[in-house]
Amino acid sequence: MKQTTFLLVFGVVLSACQAQSDTGGEEPGGEEHVELFTTPATKMGAATSDFGYNLFRALASREAATNVFLAPISVSAALTQLSMGGSEHAQRQLFRALRYHTLQDPQLHNTLKDLLVSVRMPGKGLSTAARIYMARRRLKQDFFALVEQQYGVRPKALLGGNKDVKEINDWVSRETGGKVQRLLDKPLPQNSGVNTVSAAYFKGKWETRFGQSGAMENFQVDGGAPVRIPMMQQDNYPVKMGVDSDLSCTIAQIQMQNDVSMFVFLPDDVTSNTTLLEESLTAEFVQDLSMTLHPAQVSLSLPTLRLSYSTDLLPLLSDLGLSEWLANTDLEKISNQRMTLGSVNHKVVMETAPEGNLYPDAASATHLSYRVDRPFLYLIRDEASGALLFIGRVVNPKDLTI
Ligand SMILES: *[C@@H]1O[C@H](CO)[C@@H](O)[C@H](O)[C@H]1NC(C)=O
Repeated sequence: MKQTTFLLVFGVVLSACQAQSDTGGEEPGGEEHVELFTTPATKMGAATSDFGYNLFRALASREAATNVFLAPISVSAALTQLSMGGSEHAQRQLFRALRYHTLQDPQLHNTLKDLLVSVRMPGKGLSTAARIYMARRRLKQDFFALVEQQYGVRPKALLGGNKDVKEINDWVSRETGGKVQRLLDKPLPQNSGVNTVSAAYFKGKWETRFGQSGAMENFQVDGGAPVRIPMMQQDNYPVKMGVDSDLSCTIAQIQMQNDVSMFVFLPDDVTSNTTLLEESLTAEFVQDLSMTLHPAQVSLSLPTLRLSYSTDLLPLLSDLGLSEWLANTDLEKISNQRMTLGSVNHKVVMETAPEGNLYPDAASATHLSYRVDRPFLYLIRDEASGALLFIGRVVNPKDLTI
């Protein structure tokens, strides 16, 4: 019913979508390349995004029907630092998982460094941290210098036990302005070889402010009674919007300040099974999608998000084609001794607030509404580079806490 309404209003169906998911973006001679993917920076943006979507899919399918969140670009940063310690073969394996193999960028590390600098510009609302921690096993000093010189972060040798927990948590907290606390709640596994740590905090500002916030409203949950959560609301809110009938969802792109935007994918039905939608996500899909969305003014209701999520991504790496590498990490530039990967710790914190610079245009009343009051997916994208900054699936916002 709802879908039909939107269809009538817009008269468009986003059909470009389905084709993407089938080709995996590698169909020879097929798609026209969007402008987004023509410069080294935007190609890198697409690579980190595609890695992020793959990681998100792996996480979302393992943690079925739960809230899940990732800031993939910080994971890319950590694993790229780690790749600098690998043999040529190990590096190739990692680069494939990180989607760098298509870039043919001789300046790959500089391109990534520049991208990281640009997405962390103050005003975009993102802070990230990524670092390698290693057990003391005849570590090669060159590796410390190599990574520090390239990425400005020096890998660190572990001391063992709780000293490491404090040191790692303090460092992550410092790097994220105190917003990501207690990344580790227990010591790293003994004899774990190499560990990566990545973290991110995101609090973007809307371009257009929400006039109302804090009202407690119903949010439908799959197979349960509705929960009461705080919502932000604004009439005549300018968004870009479209319907995808193949994926049975309505999509809204909400502009944030400094060339960042949020895409919300709202299924037509109350369901925690968003598999079909997750399967379709690629950098190219989202770019094509953004070209087909239409400007609209809607009565917009959005949950006020305050969330913290942490997980060890190590078990997901085999889903990204890294099983062989995990069995033999070949980190010869870190140590001559065998180094296994012990953990890939990741923690994110995100908040939304009603603030924005602009007031909506009160004159043009519309009757369209976009109410995000049931399970949804969202992503935060840097529009300049196309890089995926943050992605999440909200199944039950009542379970979210900081
Ligand atoms: C989720 O939906 C997909 C297709 O949309 C289906 O193949 C899958 O079995 C569903 N998963 C669950 C747990 O119901």
